[in-house]
Amino acid sequence: MTTYLKNVWYVAGWADEVAAGQLLARQICDERIVLFRDDEGQPRALFDQCPHRFAPLSMGKLCDGGRTVQCGYHGLRFGTDGRCSHNPHGDGRIPIKAVVRQYPVVERWSLLWLWMGEPEAADPALIPEFPFLDAASWYIGKDQMSIDANYVLESDNILDLSHIEYLHPGSLGAGTPGEGKTVVTQEGKVVWSRRFISNEVLPPFLYQATGLPDGALCDRWLDVRWNAPASMYLQADIGLAGKPREQSIQTPQVHLFTPVSANQTLYFYALAMPRFLGDWAEAAAQRAVMGLRGPFLSEDKPMVEAQHRAMAGRSFWDMSPVLLDIDGPAVRARRVLDQMLAAEASAT
Ligand code: FES
Ligand SMILES: [Fe+2]
Repeated sequence: MTTYLKNVWYVAGWADEVAAGQLLARQICDERIVLFRDDEGQPRALFDQCPHRFAPLSMGKLCDGGRTVQCGYHGLRFGTDGRCSHNPHGDGRIPIKAVVRQYPVVERWSLLWLWMGEPEAADPALIPEFPFLDAASWYIGKDQMSIDANYVLESDNILDLSHIEYLHPGSLGAGTPGEGKTVVTQEGKVVWSRRFISNEVLPPFLYQATGLPDGALCDRWLDVRWNAPASMYLQADIGLAGKPREQSIQTPQVHLFTPVSANQTLYFYALAMPRFLGDWAEAAAQRAVMGLRGPFLSEDKPMVEAQHRAMAGRSFWDMSPVLLDIDGPAVRARRVLDQMLAAEASAT
């Protein structure tokens, strides 16, 4: 049985995945959850299981303009607080036990954030900052996919971007390897991986995406901020070799991972372009994120899934991995995650 951090915000989905009047089923940390919007448009989340005969509430429908969810099997209705508010059978009495758990959920940065711990501790100020996911000021190209691997392997993958030259040659990695160096820093429970690569010949996709002249030698900055459990901001900047970073093409991204189970992960990723660039940037942001989908699907996903299968349920540390210079940030993030898990375990 895998243990997950409880008192932390998990990405439940993109905000526009939950339309008014609809129910979205999602499994997070082995728990089945139904998401919807209430009569005021606020996102809500309930345990996706009717306490009568265990039917998924997501197979029912929203009633009373979003104030209740009606079970699709025998019609019990549950309010946004999880309490049964209507029993169409017999004398209509509502059994005391007819209640489902409700989860705090917050819409922020174009995402829905779900709190798995004690509701009183659900402080929205703990949601990491992703200001470039504010659709009022930015065009956001966004996407998602499901990965058959443990979510921590996905954090490892983003925190060590030295892999782009080997796993992504010709797509995201250099046409010819440059010289890369990774530096790790930690600020409280936040880990940063900063990688600088100088004098690269970029793959064609990146000349096209950045508008830099084909074949020009370039420098690349790849700075990743990790927040528990697996929410990462990647600032990916590319410029002509030797020029200051301020003159580079700067692209903020997110890579956010939500454990479905110990063996499955939802991957939400996006990049953003400022609206002041003009209307063309809207389509460009979508095109650029679709440019990432190919390598993510055909290069990262098979590798991380194969790695997960090879581990066969054993823990990372039990397998005594060989550690290299490039592992600093991923190992640091794993240690912070382990410390947070241990702190939660000792508090209960
Ligand atoms: S299973 Fe939900 S009302 Fe019967
Ligand atoms: Fe990758």
